[in-house]
Amino acid sequence: MKTIESIEIDKEKIERLAASAKAPLPVSGAEKKKLIRKIKELLREKDAVLVAHYYVDEELQKLADETGGCVSDSLEMARFGHDHPAQTVVVAGVRFMGETAKILNPEKRILMPDPGAECSLDLSCTSEAFTKFCDAHPDRTAVVYANTSAEVKARADWVVTSSIGAQIIKHLHEQGEKIIWAPDRYLGGYIRKVTGADMLLWPGYCVVHDAFKAEELEYLRKKHPEAGVLVHPESPMEVIDQADVVGSTTQLIKAVTEMDNNLFIVATDRGIFHKMKEAAPNKRFIEAPMGGTGATCLSCAHCPWMAMNGLANLARTLETESNEIHVDPETGRRAMVSVKRMLDFAAREKVRATGSANIISPA
Ligand code: 13P
Ligand code: SF4
Repeated sequence: MKTIESIEIDKEKIERLAASAKAPLPVSGAEKKKLIRKIKELLREKDAVLVAHYYVDEELQKLADETGGCVSDSLEMARFGHDHPAQTVVVAGVRFMGETAKILNPEKRILMPDPGAECSLDLSCTSEAFTKFCDAHPDRTAVVYANTSAEVKARADWVVTSSIGAQIIKHLHEQGEKIIWAPDRYLGGYIRKVTGADMLLWPGYCVVHDAFKAEELEYLRKKHPEAGVLVHPESPMEVIDQADVVGSTTQLIKAVTEMDNNLFIVATDRGIFHKMKEAAPNKRFIEAPMGGTGATCLSCAHCPWMAMNGLANLARTLETESNEIHVDPETGRRAMVSVKRMLDFAAREKVRATGSANIISPA
């Protein structure tokens, strides 16, 4: 896939950072119960609400649900935090999610169990390189994925999520606009394919989704011809091409209830299985293959940075009120303009940006 040639991604650095992300040590059953009790008390005491991403551990997802918080995709997490009356929002996810929550809720306190939880897409698009590239192409509209820093969002014209990206690019293409797309090359390539838009693609990638293997998936599909294939569009194009449904995390969960299949092969982080099983308890789910040539120690269908969220660091954050996420107010205000464009578009199109957008299947 053709991406912007002048932009180089430091793959080695990103993969080194991913490999060094430390998941909290496992805790015993008794310790777990104690921590869960403590977190519930602290949430009440501190007027705080827990919002968790679908990719964090099942225990944290259950805790968010049980305490009146939410489990959802990145944008809905921020929206929920905004609508909820609590003054403190604890974000169990990765840093760009904490920052997005702060952008949408500048008056609230946003805490994270571990603010060192990165995202390889965010890491692959520094604000310096992005600003320089946009400045050199003033004739193009800059559209960025939500998996970016507040500074990149502030420089962009639009921020989109995977559930509404294709609709927004289609709209811009119909207005005759040419696009700079950052940072995910596969999502960008997929959107370019379904919309036909003129898009320059930043060469960023997600370390998790990039590891799904097309050939092995083909083999697994032959073994289970009755299975529905669900793919997140951060996956390589040859994997996307084999999907029955391509969609955001929320859309993939929705698909398991809407499709007749009893078995699904799923190409996204395995953290999502918790909500898929909850939505369709009688159905079965298999991870799409990551082995084969080029498999690495990271090839485990679980984001190493999402795995940094645990019960102990969540309890500590709440207790000490530490790990607060700050966004420079002027940067936050400008980033909000780009996020708001997406929210207004979604409202106009009567599409919830996170949920029931049309699922566009590959051509
Ligand atoms: P969502 O925006 O669907 O939550 O996805 C975020 C993400 O990091 C996917 O890898
Ligand atoms: Fe980023 Fe990939 Fe992790 Fe999502 S799964 S947070 S895109 S590194």
